[in-house]
Amino acid sequence: MRIDIITCLPRLLDSFFAHSILQRAQQGGYVEVVVHDLRDYTADKHRRVDDYAFGGGAGMVMQIEPIARCIRALQADRAYDEVIYMTPDGERLNQQTTNTLSLKQNLIILCGHYKGVDERVRTLFITKEISIGDYVLSGGELAACVLSDAIIRLLPGVLNDETSALTDSFQDNLLAPPVYTRPAEFEGNSVPAILLSGHEAKIDEWRYEQALERTRTRRPDLLEP
Ligand code: ADE
Repeated sequence: MRIDIITCLPRLLDSFFAHSILQRAQQGGYVEVVVHDLRDYTADKHRRVDDYAFGGGAGMVMQIEPIARCIRALQADRAYDEVIYMTPDGERLNQQTTNTLSLKQNLIILCGHYKGVDERVRTLFITKEISIGDYVLSGGELAACVLSDAIIRLLPGVLNDETSALTDSFQDNLLAPPVYTRPAEFEGNSVPAILLSGHEAKIDEWRYEQALERTRTRRPDLLEP
């Protein structure tokens, strides 16, 4: 998979992709993440990417030309499955969407800033608009990191234990059950005995019951048909 991220703050993304699972996923050849500085696609010497809103009002708007140049340059080299715009008024991100996107080959993610992008960017170039929650960030970069992380960890081979992404919260619409590790007792608080029993079938059953109970109490909406 290849993910191209378009931003006017490329340095903000560097450290995120240079560590841990995301770094290993790139080094292992499971994903290629390419960050593009939108200012490299400007035509003026001030490298401007934004301008005042027509009709007035507070806040700058990201201009269409640099974005169009960047997206067209990428599309000239390969076909993209989706051109995604990170925006608080997009469809709310969930596990189903990340599962679907993890099956794609090439994705573009556009990070918004200021008051957002010129509406024509959305109508002419964007195929999917995603929000990571009902709150407004200063820019789409953090949201692009969240989306990329959620997708990349699902790529086969990226996680050491192949099954662990399948047992995440939200796969099967259930929250994950509680987990424990050593010591078996901490200041009088013991790990549930069943987990030490070695009885695999019973442990699976216990985990399923716990997942169900946790979902019932914390996120009953996930259990609604
Ligand atoms: N940009 C600003 N806020 C955002 C959000 N909540 N989700 C996605 N992109 C954003």
